[in-house]
Amino acid sequence: MIFKKVKYKINNQILITSNIAIAKRVLENNGIIAIPTETVYGLAGNAYSEDAIIKIFSLKKRPLFNPLIVHIKSGAFITDVAVDIPTIAFKLATKFWPGPLTLLLKKQSNIPDLVTASKSTVAVRVPNHPLTLQLLEQLDFPLAAPSANPFGSISPTSVEHVLNYFKHDLEVIVDGGPCKNGVESTIIGFENNLPILYRLGAISIEEIEKVVGKVLIHSKNDTDPSAPGMLSRHYSPNTPTFLTDNVGEFIQLNPKKGIGLLLFKDLIVNDEITYQEILSKSGDMNEAAKNLYAALHRLDKLDLDMIIAEKFPDNGLGKTINDRLQRAVEK
Ligand code: TXA
Ligand code: MG
Repeated sequence: MIFKKVKYKINNQILITSNIAIAKRVLENNGIIAIPTETVYGLAGNAYSEDAIIKIFSLKKRPLFNPLIVHIKSGAFITDVAVDIPTIAFKLATKFWPGPLTLLLKKQSNIPDLVTASKSTVAVRVPNHPLTLQLLEQLDFPLAAPSANPFGSISPTSVEHVLNYFKHDLEVIVDGGPCKNGVESTIIGFENNLPILYRLGAISIEEIEKVVGKVLIHSKNDTDPSAPGMLSRHYSPNTPTFLTDNVGEFIQLNPKKGIGLLLFKDLIVNDEITYQEILSKSGDMNEAAKNLYAALHRLDKLDLDMIIAEKFPDNGLGKTINDRLQRAVEK
């Protein structure tokens, strides 16, 4: 297929803009752009265009077996991408969209198999970011968008993070400021009309259960990754990273020079520590989630010998944060 390549790079510079018209033009020509969402930045392309989808996979160096999330402009467009939608899916969509909830639904035949990695289900959500909603409003196709990071590395929650990864590969980044939730969407699938959790995320299980009752947990299986976001190693810094519920003791047992700490709310008193990140001084889990990836990005740039992360309380968003930290430490 022949398509016009639209270039907006000036002197080979990437364009960082809040101009939706430019973003729209690139997308309409099968180009890929970075878009802001409330969770993390995404690498977006026309979900109906195989050309665009192939570019996303190759840019991200993502294996083709790992499907993408389709972003639609509002719940009213759910039937454009999905069929046989369970009643409880509508209930969840009504409550949480626009917002950080992704639903796994039986796919419409118009969604290319590449998007869903040949699965019979499609992952779909309505992102809650004003610029991206405006953009979707002006497009006559949904946007397939994985997080804007190379496969396996830390997700981006700011334009700067996206630039660090894709400075030489992207033409346009839509600048929507720092992401306000800071961790990816919660993914829920359905079996026999029951909700099943595929990925912990920005909406806690407790909040989901208030709407639909008990949520079952999808059993993790690395060899058959029906939600490869559940693959053990993911969201990983380059620096060796460890997770513990007793940071003080861990430091004593592992004396090293360049130690960086990732802590919930309190600093550790120890002169030997090179650098400490506090995720929320007031102990607010939402704030901690918002700051999590930015803190990991900063720590990872410091050339430390190790990052030691503190385990969070195992409830609400603490569960999601622990999940991401656990994956960050997997070898
Ligand atoms: O918050 C988010 O969800 C962000 C923003 C950009 O929307 N997106 C995101 O996409 O986190 P990604 O590709 O990094 O993670 C999507 C996860 C992957 O683990 C993928 O395997 C899973 O969703 N997924 C997508 N389609 C699926 C399907 N049909 N069945 C099971 N898992 C699916
Ligand atoms: Mg991702």
